[in-house]
Amino acid sequence: MFGPRLQGKVAFITGAGMGQGSAAARLFAAHGARIAVADLDSQAARATVEAIADAGGEAMAVQGDVGIEADVRRMVGEAVERFGALHILYPQAGVLWKDRDRSVIETDETWWDRVMAINLKGVYFTCKYGIPHLIAAGGGSIVVVGSVSALRGFTLPQDAYTASKGALISLTKSLAVQFARQGIRANIIHPGIVETPMQAPYLADPAKRAAFEGSTPLGRLARPEEIAQVALFLASDEASYVTGAEIPVDGGYTATGG
Ligand SMILES: NC(=O)c1ccc[n+]([C@@H]2O[C@H](COP(=O)([O-])OP(=O)(O)OC[C@H]3O[C@@H](n4cnc5c(N)ncnc54)[C@H](O)[C@@H]3O)[C@@H](O)[C@H]2O)c1
Repeated sequence: MFGPRLQGKVAFITGAGMGQGSAAARLFAAHGARIAVADLDSQAARATVEAIADAGGEAMAVQGDVGIEADVRRMVGEAVERFGALHILYPQAGVLWKDRDRSVIETDETWWDRVMAINLKGVYFTCKYGIPHLIAAGGGSIVVVGSVSALRGFTLPQDAYTASKGALISLTKSLAVQFARQGIRANIIHPGIVETPMQAPYLADPAKRAAFEGSTPLGRLARPEEIAQVALFLASDEASYVTGAEIPVDGGYTATGG
């Protein structure tokens, strides 16, 4: 039905070893993009690269911690050295540690800082080192991943995670406004609950799974590919007039109003 929607583009995707990042890397590659698969877990990154190669696409693994500036600088450098340019940034690595990240009165500063370093500073660093290459390429697209948890309060708190995702909304809008005249668009996706390794420990409890499904109008959780499809649209030129937007991809969860 569609032709290759990212032909000639190079995408830098963080957290692309597993979950939604891996699904996006494989989908973007199937649409013609060359992919830098960035992940802390080098084995996972290599598995995504192999899956892309097996499907006839082109990708490379870059290993590092998005919360460490020197790692991100190096990973972006390695990607540009191999592919010669960058057009798409998808800084979507994130962590949800419900055991350590709870209410502010229960959360140790160490874990607060670590969540912020990965979820928020990871996006800052990826943009800091990636945007100059988008500008050099004459423009590009930045796709950020928030969460429905940034749009709602939750009775079971994960406050560092929620605050980091809320900050990404503001950062995305600022990026969209600042860099629009350089041909760069920036948008943020708010997934609902997605079936990925991140959620696996929590979804193992049938009662919790049923509660999540019951609170979602579509009556089920998201597949990683369903988030990746929206990211593909935002990354592609089909979204040429979409910038500064927030898009919930949540099966109607936030439409219920409470
Ligand atoms: N799964 C959900 O229900 C859900 C819902 C809303 C938003 N999100 C967001 O979607 C994004 C992807 O989540 P997912 O469910 O695919 O997660 P996941 O845990 O399944 O995969 C995350 C990937 O990021 C990598 N990673 C973790 N820390 C890293 C670091 N410091 N540096 C580099 N890579 C690192 C992991 O190795 C892994 O490959 C995250 O930003 C998450 O907050 C997820």
